[in-house]
Amino acid sequence: MDHLPSSNSQYKDQDYWDDRYRHEETFEWFGAFSHFEHLLKEEIQRDESILILGCGNSSLSYDMFMSGYRSITNIDFSAICIEKMATKYASCSGMEWKVMDAKALEFENESFNVVLEKGTIDAMMVDEKDPWNVSQETTEIIDQVLKEVSRILRKGGRFISITFAQPHFRKQLYARRDYRWSITHQIYESGFHYNFYTMTKGENLSSEDQELEDKRSQRAEPESVVYLQITENENYLNEIEF
Ligand SMILES: C[S@@+](CC[C@H](N)C(=O)[O-])C[C@H]1O[C@@H](n2cnc3c(N)ncnc32)[C@H](O)[C@@H]1O
Repeated sequence: MDHLPSSNSQYKDQDYWDDRYRHEETFEWFGAFSHFEHLLKEEIQRDESILILGCGNSSLSYDMFMSGYRSITNIDFSAICIEKMATKYASCSGMEWKVMDAKALEFENESFNVVLEKGTIDAMMVDEKDPWNVSQETTEIIDQVLKEVSRILRKGGRFISITFAQPHFRKQLYARRDYRWSITHQIYESGFHYNFYTMTKGENLSSEDQELEDKRSQRAEPESVVYLQITENENYLNEIEF
């Protein structure tokens, strides 16, 4: 696998992804569409407008298109990726490809029904050593992305996040009243259990998630540590120490 970075920290660098996408044609993080299609179909109607954040060279957009979703905008900060994907899927009318940073989305307020990310937020967190105590710098980066996602979602719109991160870690970032959404969590299987979060804009956080936000802002210490199971060949989680 000649696309593996020399250090996992590179997974957050645009240069690394540009270089990788120059050579690599396709790679699917956290399993193919067929593994979580049943969950997506519950959350997204076929005529809704969808934005995919950090699309990479995954076939997810195309698989969704073939499944009947027609309004899909894809962004990635790698221009090489977007150029190759736009060429590859030029015949799919209704699919758009744009070079853009997920921290500064060039879309109007309330312009999408759905924003979907798979592994993109994870790639922004690769320098973290302790998932219970995400650094201030990374917390601010993720907050920039989530504020942008909340801004461009319509009322009732959903932010779907597909990740290896379990709720006790990821909800620390997603549970904020500022984002004006509720959170639900499901799991799907693709050789490993992955996490499928749905944030619905316009709904309130559950009392449990509000409590989590309150505790986090008071910097409460965790009572126990739950270890993550790593089974994939390429997985930057290997660098995270507990
Ligand atoms: C782990 S890959 C996931 C790719 C794809 N979503 C998938 O499921 O296979 C992370 C992707 O996020 C993109 N990315 C990372 N940070 C980004 C940012 N700030 N803005 C836009 N794209 C970003 C990378 O270029 C890369 O394509």
